[in-house]
Amino acid sequence: MSGGAFPQFTSRLAFILVAAGAAVGLGNVWGFTYVAHKNGGAGFMLAYLAALLLIALPAFLSELVIGRIGRASPPRALHNVQQASGGSALDWRIYGWGGVGAALLILSFYMVIAGEAMAYGWTALTGGIKGWTPDAVKSLDQAYKATPVPGLFWGGLFIGVTIVICALDVRRGLERTGKILMPVLFAMLFLMVFYAAQTGDMVAALAFLFDPSDLKLSSGIMMEAMGQAFFTMSVGMGGIMLLGAYMGEEVNMAQAAIWVLIMDLAVAVLAGLIIFPIVYAVDAAVTPGPGLVFITLPTLFVDLPFGGLAAVVFFLLLSFAAITSSIALLAVPVAWLEDRGWSRLRASMVMGLLAYGLSVGSVFSFNVWKDFYPLAAFGFTSETVFELIREGVNNIILPIGGLAFAVIVGWKLPRGQVRTAIDVRSDTVFGLWYFAVRFIVPLAVSAIFVNALVGGD
Ligand code: TRP
Repeated sequence: MSGGAFPQFTSRLAFILVAAGAAVGLGNVWGFTYVAHKNGGAGFMLAYLAALLLIALPAFLSELVIGRIGRASPPRALHNVQQASGGSALDWRIYGWGGVGAALLILSFYMVIAGEAMAYGWTALTGGIKGWTPDAVKSLDQAYKATPVPGLFWGGLFIGVTIVICALDVRRGLERTGKILMPVLFAMLFLMVFYAAQTGDMVAALAFLFDPSDLKLSSGIMMEAMGQAFFTMSVGMGGIMLLGAYMGEEVNMAQAAIWVLIMDLAVAVLAGLIIFPIVYAVDAAVTPGPGLVFITLPTLFVDLPFGGLAAVVFFLLLSFAAITSSIALLAVPVAWLEDRGWSRLRASMVMGLLAYGLSVGSVFSFNVWKDFYPLAAFGFTSETVFELIREGVNNIILPIGGLAFAVIVGWKLPRGQVRTAIDVRSDTVFGLWYFAVRFIVPLAVSAIFVNALVGGD
């Protein structure tokens, strides 16, 4: 802890906004709407809600517990926790280092998508979208990806902003950004939902997401719901652990966690209530796919009143959601280097540039390395670098991290110590959560893991 005391957020609200900022990101808008669309709406919603409550929320809280006991960056927090609990043969720091690596890998593909959102917002702002015929939008997407230049440029801008904010101290950087951008984000979301209700088919969208008469559920859908719940709550790689370490002792972490979950879910649902009314009003038969936000939606904006303005607001909203997540991501490797005596500025620059270097692989995946499948020999015959990184993080690294943290909190730490740290008054609530951490979370993440290994999606 060289250079002053370990930083702390100023209030409970500050923690909630920063953690919600971390949780709310591309996963909520780009990821959620795409998987919900693909998996047929209401059934997926049910599985997603269950996964959030039974798996992601308990896992989120176990990371906060480790952060509160360990009070340091994830590797060192895990080390402190291990020391305090008498230890075991394996050095728990490896999960923290894994988290540092995961943060860099997530950032490396995150900046590619966030960069594209910024580029679209900029195009809509400067050129308007008048000429955005469906073909023009397709070629916008294609032009964006045809050479590495736009991706490297916008990704560089995005990580540059991330580095600058992260380099400020925790209160002036993370905390202030959360306090400013989260309310703005919600305001823009409500504005856009209102717009979608005016211009689109809100009834059809609500029916798609919530009509229980047409539930489609399968093990594949449940797996995707779990993976999405995990990613969207930012659990499994120490990001939440770090925010827990910055959280004041007086904050009730269970209540705070529930607030984060509510805000995270609200943003996903609101994003759905922006995108689906527009989709259903214009062309209900749109084929589901990852192009929903970047190809389908901009195409639809063209035909709507004030579509140009709506596109600007929408892509600005997406960029804001991405930036509050990316600063929380970069904060993990930065805090680790800070624990090792680096200055925050130097740590932010080095780690940000490292993530940028890694992002070259993802940018190239759409052009120079479009047909390069590095692990083809191992059966991954159609996965580019971008897809390998994304799937590797989601299907392997995050589940292993989530499993490790749950096992540490549920099985390795003395129950009394956990109880004191989490500070839940009701025995029943504590008992339910403890049960989830000991049994449900480990079983569920093992299931995601095995499913991914045996070639599920
Ligand atoms: N939750 C973020 C999203 O939905 C992504 C994310 C995963 C993240 N792990 C994180 C963000 C850790 C911040 C910290 O897009």
